[in-house]
Amino acid sequence: MFETIETRNEGNVTLITLSRPDALNALNAQLMGELTQAVKQAEEDTAIGAIVITGSEKAFAAGADIKEMADLEFSQVFNEDKVSAAMDEITRCRKPIIAAVAGYALGGGCELAMMCDFIIAADTAKFGQPEITIGVIPGIGGTQRLTRFIGKSKAMEMCLTGRMMGAEEAERAGLVSRIVPAAELVSNALEVAQRIAEFSRPVVMMAKECVNRAYETTLTEGVLFERRVFNSVFALEDQKEGMTAFVEKRKAAFKNR
Ligand code: HXC
Repeated sequence: MFETIETRNEGNVTLITLSRPDALNALNAQLMGELTQAVKQAEEDTAIGAIVITGSEKAFAAGADIKEMADLEFSQVFNEDKVSAAMDEITRCRKPIIAAVAGYALGGGCELAMMCDFIIAADTAKFGQPEITIGVIPGIGGTQRLTRFIGKSKAMEMCLTGRMMGAEEAERAGLVSRIVPAAELVSNALEVAQRIAEFSRPVVMMAKECVNRAYETTLTEGVLFERRVFNSVFALEDQKEGMTAFVEKRKAAFKNR
C-alpha cells in the first residue's frame, strides 16, 4: 500500500524503512505523507511500544527532494507547506521513535533524524545541513534542533559551510547516542526499541514528555513538571509491579496500567 516506504512489525516495534533508492530517499511530498501515515498507524496500534525509522545502507535521506522544490514560488511554499506540516506530525507522536542512520542524513534527512527521540548511527553515517550550497537554508528545524543538540559554534559552522560530519564527530558532539557497525544497525536499533517497548507504556511516554519539556521551558518549571509527573506514576499499577518485582528479585511484568 505504501510506495516510498516499507513497514513491518517486529514484536512490539514498528520498523519503517524509507525506500526511494533512485533518489537516496529524498523526502518528497509522497514519502512524507506515507511516513506520517505509518507513524500514526504505529501510534494507534496498541500492540506497538516503539518505532524505528531507517533508510538504506547508502542514505538515511539525502534531504528534501530538490527536484520537487526547484521551481516552487514563494506563494506555493508558504500556502501549501506540505513537507513541514507532515514533519510536525512526527514530533507529535507520543511513542518513542528511534532514527537508525547509515550513510547520508543531509538537509531534511538530518532534520528528520533530529525529530526522532534519539539517533543510533552506523559507522558510515554522515550528517550535514548542506542547504547553503543550493541557495537555501534548513527549513524543518535544522537551525534550531542542531543548535540545541551540538551547540552554537558547531551548528553555525555546519549551516554556514554545509560540511558533513562523520559518525564519530557526531557522537562526540552529542548528536547521536551511539555508533554501531553498519551491518548491525537495524538489528541493534530494533533491540533497543524492543527493550523500551517492554517497559510500562504510560511511564515511557511520561519520560519522553519530561525530557522534551527540557527544551520548551525554564529549569524551575521543567523540574516542577517532572516532579508532578513523577508523583502521578504512583497512581499506576505498573509502579507497584516494578518496585515489588525489584524487592522480590524477579523481572517485572508490566501491564501498561
Ligand atoms: C532529489 C536527490 C537528492 C535530493 C540525491 N538525489 N539527493 N534528488 N533531492 N535531495 C538523487 C540524485 O539527483 C541522483 O539521481 C541520485 O539521487 C543519486 O545521487 P548522486 O548525487 O548521483 O549520488 P552521489 O554522487 O553519491 O552523491 C550523494 C550526495 C548528493 C552527496 C548525497 O546526492 C547530494 O549532494 N545530494 C543533495 C544533498 C542536499 O543538498 N540536501 C539538502 C536538500 S534541501 P539522478 O536521477 O539525478 O541520477 C533540504 C531542505 C529541507 O533538505 C527543508 C524542507 C522544507
